[in-house]
Amino acid sequence: MIDAARYAENSYFVKQREKEFKDSSIKEIICESFKEADVFTMSAKKDAIVNMGGLIGVRDKALFEKVKQANILITQDKI
Ligand SMILES: Cc1ncc(COP(=O)(O)O)c(C=O)c1O
Repeated sequence: MIDAARYAENSYFVKQREKEFKDSSIKEIICESFKEADVFTMSAKKDAIVNMGGLIGVRDKALFEKVKQANILITQDKI
């Protein structure tokens, strides 16, 4: 699971500081970072530069359905 709020900044630091990735593009580093993740959350107020909001990415369809239902209940203050 990845906290992706700083995905771009962190990828830049990986490029600057890790020899293995010095010739990789930022996009390639981002793809490499997310490749193994089952889930990511993102406060989009950081690197995505929006005023408010965020997102959740879920790879597994069954888990996605559970997260979707829980999110509806949370937004309705039922859990
Ligand atoms: C890496 C990271 N994740 C999550 C958060 C929380 O974001 P929010 O303020 O939208 O709840 C922050 C806030 O600075 C952050 O830096």
